[in-house]
Amino acid sequence: MSNHTPSTPACHSAAAHPVVVAITGASGGKYALRLLEVLLRADEHVYLMISTAGLMVLAMEEGLQLGNKPNVIHKRLVQHFDCNPEQLRVFGEQDWLAPPASGSAKLKGMAIVPCTTGTLGALAAGVSNCLINRAADVCLKEKTPLIIMVRETPFSSIHLQNMLTLANAGATIMPANPGFYHQPQSVDDIIDFMVARVLDHLGIAQNLLAEWGKS
Ligand SMILES: Cc1cc2nc3c(=O)[nH]c(=O)nc-3n(C[C@H](O)[C@H](O)[C@H](O)COP(=O)(O)O)c2cc1C
Repeated sequence: MSNHTPSTPACHSAAAHPVVVAITGASGGKYALRLLEVLLRADEHVYLMISTAGLMVLAMEEGLQLGNKPNVIHKRLVQHFDCNPEQLRVFGEQDWLAPPASGSAKLKGMAIVPCTTGTLGALAAGVSNCLINRAADVCLKEKTPLIIMVRETPFSSIHLQNMLTLANAGATIMPANPGFYHQPQSVDDIIDFMVARVLDHLGIAQNLLAEWGKS
């Protein structure tokens, strides 16, 4: 994403605590798109960052050509989700003036969906070299919920160590690892399983997946 392009305009009510969604270049952009769809339909406000590799994977897997400028990405996603433009803000990779770059931002939480092992490693090492990494680092220091949907298989001992480091620092490690006890009938059902678990951990009501024992 372009480094110097300004983010899309803010017009949030003071009461709204946005959810930060970061999309990195792991397989599984479908999870991110469904998460965004559900959040926007639920009238949540979303701060979105997409890594350069994330944009590439969304194009390859989903045929979604978003460009690389925050204002263009914003326009295309508002069209895609048919949502209120004010609910969504999109930030560039080096936009250090964006609210999630600072601990003073009031956030519901952050979900990195999907998360590469590269981003996982940067987070475990505290390397804040792009806005996604900085925002996640801020969540850890501020004790704001941070959900990391890592996707790779198999995991090396480096990946496993990094997950342990981040779990010990307060992150929720949630590998893209859907269950099948809800008897999914489609890929969408499988996607919804993971998205429901992310929403549960953000404290956002969802009806994608029944609570165990209550279906
Ligand atoms: C189609 C495609 C699928 C990929 N899938 C994964 C994956 O599942 N997990 C992973 O860790 N990296 C995956 N990668 C590699 C990452 O995109 C690459 O390591 C990139 O540098 C990650 O950068 P980011 O963490 O800033 O998004 C994939 C790349 C491509 C092009």
